[in-house]
Amino acid sequence: MPTSVELADLEALAVALASEAGRLIVDERPEELGVAATKSSATDIVTVMDQRSEQLLRRRLLAARPRDAVLGEEEGSSVRPAGWSGLTWVVDPIDGTVNYLYGLPAYAVSVAVVTGDPTLPGEWEPVAGAVCSPAAGEVFHARRGGGAALRTRGAAAGSRRLRVLTGQELDGALVGTGFGYRAQDRARQGAVAAALLPGVRDLRRGGSAAIDLCSVAAGRLDGYYESGLHPWDLAAGQLVVEEAGGVVSGWQGRPPSGEMVIAAGPSLHGALHGALRSAVEEIGRRVTA
Ligand code: IPD
Repeated sequence: MPTSVELADLEALAVALASEAGRLIVDERPEELGVAATKSSATDIVTVMDQRSEQLLRRRLLAARPRDAVLGEEEGSSVRPAGWSGLTWVVDPIDGTVNYLYGLPAYAVSVAVVTGDPTLPGEWEPVAGAVCSPAAGEVFHARRGGGAALRTRGAAAGSRRLRVLTGQELDGALVGTGFGYRAQDRARQGAVAAALLPGVRDLRRGGSAAIDLCSVAAGRLDGYYESGLHPWDLAAGQLVVEEAGGVVSGWQGRPPSGEMVIAAGPSLHGALHGALRSAVEEIGRRVTA
């Protein structure tokens, strides 16, 4: 684990890089933004700005932190450099790419630095990170043990510490979620959402997992869950929630991973976990009946 001084430097770098890439994807977005490639399905898209944003992040990281490794959504894992520091930067150059393509504001650049191996589910831990939501003029950031904060620019410029909401019952909770890109995953995720919906205040599908997690940290959502997330969707937002006093887990106390991510304040987390578990078990019974 880096020292507290090192963590502060890593957090500052994450903020600077997420902010710079956030400016790039706003300022240099072409008039005609096309789809450059598709991934797991025809709707899982990559734009030229996803590629340019990741290239920028990789260039800056190579210059600033040559002994760290990089895992990015578009280019995958870098080769670990000779004399590897033990740290890996996990970057999502545009989280919420479909929102970005359609001109909806909920997209972000997510930059985190983790210990362990981010390619192995549950075997890594974020230690510093930032999520820049450029259309909102917001940067959420945190470092392990140092709290979480939101920096805002524009008319409401300033910085404030983040705290999750507490004391909410499940039936009054506003819960965020998301859906993957493959049809078979979506059918199951839709069934879980339908089972949960009668028991909560409402559900939101914002379209960026990183912003959803930061919304839990900022008290804009009571909770959030999603299955199928990748480390780059999760790493920075997870740390922001934890440093804002929240709990982020997978199933049954396991670390959050692609299998499941459940994020909420400590008082709501158990109830949300329980309701999701019941929903999944009920759907499993129906499928096997
Ligand atoms: C997606 C978004 C979305 C979530 C998907 C992610 P991308 O990331 O975070 O909210 O529901 O699971 O894949 O593809 O826009 O980087």
